[in-house]
Amino acid sequence: MGNGKFTVSSFLKAKNDGEKISMLTAYDYSTAKLLDEAGVDSLLVGDSLAMVVLGHENTLKVTVDDMIHHCKAVSRGVKRAMVIGDMPFMSYHVDIQDSVRNAGRFIQEGGVHGVKLEGGREVIDKVRAVINAQIPVMGHLGLTPQSVNVFGGFKVQGRQEEQAKKIIEDSLLLQEAGVFAIVLECVPERLAKLISEKLQIPTIGIGAGRYCDGQILVSQDMLGMYTDFVPKFVKQYSNLCDTIKESTSTYIKEIREGQFPAKEHSFNIDDKVLEKLY
Ligand code: KIV
Repeated sequence: MGNGKFTVSSFLKAKNDGEKISMLTAYDYSTAKLLDEAGVDSLLVGDSLAMVVLGHENTLKVTVDDMIHHCKAVSRGVKRAMVIGDMPFMSYHVDIQDSVRNAGRFIQEGGVHGVKLEGGREVIDKVRAVINAQIPVMGHLGLTPQSVNVFGGFKVQGRQEEQAKKIIEDSLLLQEAGVFAIVLECVPERLAKLISEKLQIPTIGIGAGRYCDGQILVSQDMLGMYTDFVPKFVKQYSNLCDTIKESTSTYIKEIREGQFPAKEHSFNIDDKVLEKLY
């Protein structure tokens, strides 16, 4: 698309052309490089970093500094995909100026092309202000993990009429505010379909069924590397857990049995130099 890079306009074009958008999360340089080379359209440096990389029980503990550290690494690995930085808990909840300043840091320091904010009406003034600062914003509705304590756990959202209406209204509010896409997380498939049909901007589903305009998964889930908790909506395309464990056991065994390192892994020294050392 255009210069080959996937951009905000590519998101909208994909929706208009009926082409599905592929997204994954990434947190480090070498993984981001592989995912980009494989052709993924967009990478999210998700605050899921807190759980899958840092080992916390939810996403609430990561800071803007933590996120920017990882955004920098991901940005360095990517040539084509649009990189989006996830604004963490409390980085856009206090006041508008604080939110815009934090979003700006993602762009200036983190090198990302846009940011994602969770929530609808509660944060709409911050979303508008960040967009006014010329920073592309992706919305996120449904199960917004930063609200885990309000929801009382990681639960499907929008099964009841009132909840579902709120998600629909919020999606329209976000679209009106100017977000370029909205992540719908853990909502019933037919609700996600309805929202996708109502919106001009693309929806990106995670646990939202088949009819969203694109899909995102946490890379460690998709690759079968994070097994603390595997949600129902995850499809594991690899079993890297087993691959990593098997490779590591073989490495340990070969060290113990003297098979590694072999001659081809070793460096030479001239005989004459060596003689003088004895
Ligand atoms: O933090 C994250 O990884 C996310 C995706 C699951 C959408 O927000």
